[in-house]
Amino acid sequence: MQSVGTVICTDRGPTTSEFTFVVTSSEVVPVRRGQLVQLETEDGLLLAVVQEVMKTNRFYYHAEAVKELERSGRMLSSIFPCDRWDMLIATAKPLGVLREEGFDKINFPPSPGEKVYLAERNVLSRFFGFDEENGLEIGFMRYHNVPVKLNMTRLLQKHLAILAMSGSGKSYLATVLLEEVLSRSRDKGRIFSLVVDVHGEYTALSQDSSWELARAVSVIKGSYVQFATPLFTERQLAMFQPEMSPVQMRELSRLLSEVRKARGETYSLSDVVSLLEEDEKMNPRTKEALLGWLYELEDTQLFGVEENPYLPEEAKPGRAAILDLSDVLSLRKKQMIVAYVLQRLFELRRRGTIPPSLVILEEAHQFCPEAKQELALSKSIIETIAREGRKFHFSLCLISQRPVRLATSVLSQANTHIILRVTNPNDLKAIELSSEMITRETLSMIADLPVGEALIVGSAVNAPLFLKVREKKASPSTYEETMEDAAKRFEASETFRQT
Ligand SMILES: Nc1ncnc2c1ncn2[C@@H]1O[C@H](COP(=O)(O)OP(=O)(O)OP(=O)(O)O)[C@@H](O)[C@H]1O
Ligand SMILES: [Mg+2]
Repeated sequence: MQSVGTVICTDRGPTTSEFTFVVTSSEVVPVRRGQLVQLETEDGLLLAVVQEVMKTNRFYYHAEAVKELERSGRMLSSIFPCDRWDMLIATAKPLGVLREEGFDKINFPPSPGEKVYLAERNVLSRFFGFDEENGLEIGFMRYHNVPVKLNMTRLLQKHLAILAMSGSGKSYLATVLLEEVLSRSRDKGRIFSLVVDVHGEYTALSQDSSWELARAVSVIKGSYVQFATPLFTERQLAMFQPEMSPVQMRELSRLLSEVRKARGETYSLSDVVSLLEEDEKMNPRTKEALLGWLYELEDTQLFGVEENPYLPEEAKPGRAAILDLSDVLSLRKKQMIVAYVLQRLFELRRRGTIPPSLVILEEAHQFCPEAKQELALSKSIIETIAREGRKFHFSLCLISQRPVRLATSVLSQANTHIILRVTNPNDLKAIELSSEMITRETLSMIADLPVGEALIVGSAVNAPLFLKVREKKASPSTYEETMEDAAKRFEASETFRQT
């Protein structure tokens, strides 16, 4: 292995918190900011991150000499061997010392004269805690070409949040993550995934003939979803009417047991309504309130006798379902569908009927907003899953472009955060507050990230890590089409020709 540099003495070091090295490698640019390097110390192998790289050349130190010479029409480099004196000086911050059992704090500085090397794959892998054998490969480390393979339990069990501004690659990364969980073999442990797809961006995956995993994906159209009324207890129905009084709740409970007595497990909401209309025992005001409210629920046309699709059939190991809500216009109805599906899947998982599961929740702030005044029929079940999901291997992957608007009760339960480009100062502040591992320095780097690059912090990795999301294998979705192509497709389309 060839070294890239040698540790030198400066006024400030080497110390345990910083050291400087002169780049000795003949390669064009052997070190860059953010790159990781390793070197031997008396205390063991030390890993460090390059924080700054400085170029210097003694010949150019004297401004007056350079100016005078070049004014006479000559170049400094034509008289002196300037390029041979070009130097790269790098400053690095030690991160840890490698020990048998892992990485330890740095208590001893590196020595001047010590050779510096680019960090090796196995050292990086141990430092960040990758799972080389069974991990989910979501990207690679820039400048190192080392695959980032994250352990599934560490990444998902305590929930994941993908946060970034619009167009920075959140959905792209979620697709990569989906590809990784779908391509797991049975002996590695396969889970079920549900994608709550607000804009219908993921539906094309199921028909992507050039993608080998397309067969593992099915689409649930939001407008076809039907709730099984007999599965609802009065409490679960009250999820859609948070202001129900205890008296109304008691009466609803009585109604439900009466309808059950009369019809067994085959009744719909209209049967409950008919029974209530005929009821003469109930206080008229309670009856009126309950009726008004049940009519409202009936109007949504979501309640039937049986469930559609039958969720235990959908949630199989190694499969994914895309819940496409693009054809459901009302936010209230979208939230009701999400609330029903999540509540039902979580219940099935608690009973052990379905495999460990992952729910990828796009536009999470729409389904569990922080603001009290925002409508959020799905918030309470999402909060429950955020709190208790871990014990039942039921994970959430929250995706949001507005972390400030996402309920802190939910976001604080996500122990791993993947952050792509964010520039809005309020959002940056929310991100800083949501994770104690983010320093000022890393925060400033988040605003400079290009599309497709991310910072990952939290349970999934031993230390904050910048990565480049790998290329996805599935074809681009129509949302990734260029404006030119979309315009051409429109003019060639039937709809246009008929007008
Ligand atoms: N890792 C990547 N490699 C290559 N292209 C990428 C990558 N990530 C994102 N892109 C491209 O950037 C564009 C935006 O990505 P994406 O749709 O994932 O953004 P988003 O964060 O989900 O945005 P929104 O918040 O609006 O949903 C897409 O056209 C996509 O192809
Ligand atoms: Mg998106």
